[in-house]
Amino acid sequence: MGKSLTAPQNTGATARQRCLQPSCGGIYALADRVYVCSRCGGPLEIDAPLGVATGDPAALREKWRLRAASPDAKNRSGVWRYREFLPLDPDAPVTLFEGNTPLYDAPRSAEYCGIDVLQLKHQGCNPTGSFKDTGMTVAVTHAAMLGAKTTICASTGNTAASLAAYSARARFRCAILVPYGQISSAKLAQSMDYGASIFEVEGNFDDCMRLVQELGGDPAIYVANSINPFRIEGQKTVVFELMEQCGWRVPDAVVMPGGNLGNSSAFGKGFNELRDAGLIDRVPRLYVIQAEGSAPFVRMFEELGPHPSGPEHNLPETMIAETHPYTLATAIKIGAPVSWKKSLRAVLESRGEVIAATEQEIADAKAIIGREGIGCEPASATTVAGIRRLAREGKIRCDENVIAVLTGHLLKDPEYVSNYHRGTLALPAEPEGMRRERRIDGAFQNCPQRVAANKSAILKRLESREA
Ligand code: F0G
Repeated sequence: MGKSLTAPQNTGATARQRCLQPSCGGIYALADRVYVCSRCGGPLEIDAPLGVATGDPAALREKWRLRAASPDAKNRSGVWRYREFLPLDPDAPVTLFEGNTPLYDAPRSAEYCGIDVLQLKHQGCNPTGSFKDTGMTVAVTHAAMLGAKTTICASTGNTAASLAAYSARARFRCAILVPYGQISSAKLAQSMDYGASIFEVEGNFDDCMRLVQELGGDPAIYVANSINPFRIEGQKTVVFELMEQCGWRVPDAVVMPGGNLGNSSAFGKGFNELRDAGLIDRVPRLYVIQAEGSAPFVRMFEELGPHPSGPEHNLPETMIAETHPYTLATAIKIGAPVSWKKSLRAVLESRGEVIAATEQEIADAKAIIGREGIGCEPASATTVAGIRRLAREGKIRCDENVIAVLTGHLLKDPEYVSNYHRGTLALPAEPEGMRRERRIDGAFQNCPQRVAANKSAILKRLESREA
């Protein structure tokens, strides 16, 4: 592994980890493996004074543009290409050439939402099929620089596959903790193939997260969940790539799903840093969408008052967890999100909102995205469901420039997709009679048809179908 832990070369200043609790002010070196503040338990953030802020934004944009065409691994990665804004600058990062994901026009989805233009930033096109890879390249590179040998995470599927892949590249032992029987078999298969030790915990995601925090106390084990601020550093570069794709014209609204709330935290940090460095002139409104049955962040946001906006708002000290999160969007079936403070700050500063989407809305939105020829996993479809709601409520205007972040690949949950299109999708009953089974309509269903082995029978069926 290359250089020691350094700040970006052009800053001349030292990057560090800083506690976000205003009353604490704990500071840690980059080499300190702490994850959360050891004084007060508060969340940590990387604080790297940006020398680039005084530089020439046009020259920096041009440098990034040229790097994208370079054969060098560090430049081809859609994360390390933006290393002026990263706290690490290793010679040989652990990379799978993450990032570089498409931004698609989505006219059918726009029409469905009742707005003129909608674009989809598809983070499911990353090497392991989700947005996690952009954060994992930085976290696993950090682990390698520290000389770690074992990595660990709790996961609803995507983090696991991503950490397993990057750990395999770095030749680390990798332990992943997943809630037994509650995650996609495709994701489990991926993690098996990448050689991770998989522990199916008899509990939910929040139990896995608690265990990871306990195990992470061992200095030989490196925690790669998004509680780790190095993950956020990698994920924030998605904003840089997005702005390049938008020709540096800032959208009005960026909408993303919320689970453990690392991604929305990363988007907030990325946009703020670009603004502070003079690369953009304002920050878009950030909207976080949760599934209705797994929405502790929505409840907290609603309790802030009728129109919470701006950093001046009095922030709550604790979040009331959802003890029985309930949704078919397994990626975001999380009752106690660890990064809520960072995410809340990002949403409030940008004057965005946090709202919920129902299971029916998520399933229908997913089918509409599929009809774009794009597809995504259920959690990602909360975005289009949320935009539709926000547009109906007049919170997003039809002429605004809106971007939805698709976080994961369609093939994560083939059972869900197939059941929707066959009209057999349902939320199962919960034990102890807490919830009854609820069926989801396949409003846009597309069921395979059985047909005689006969050309005219097939042509007849095809003619009756709209293009
Ligand atoms: N979308 C997908 C596809 C996800 O896998 C996740 C989180 C989210 C959205 C929510 O993002 O946690 O940053 O708010 N998946 C985690 C995992 C928890 O273990 O793969 P977040």
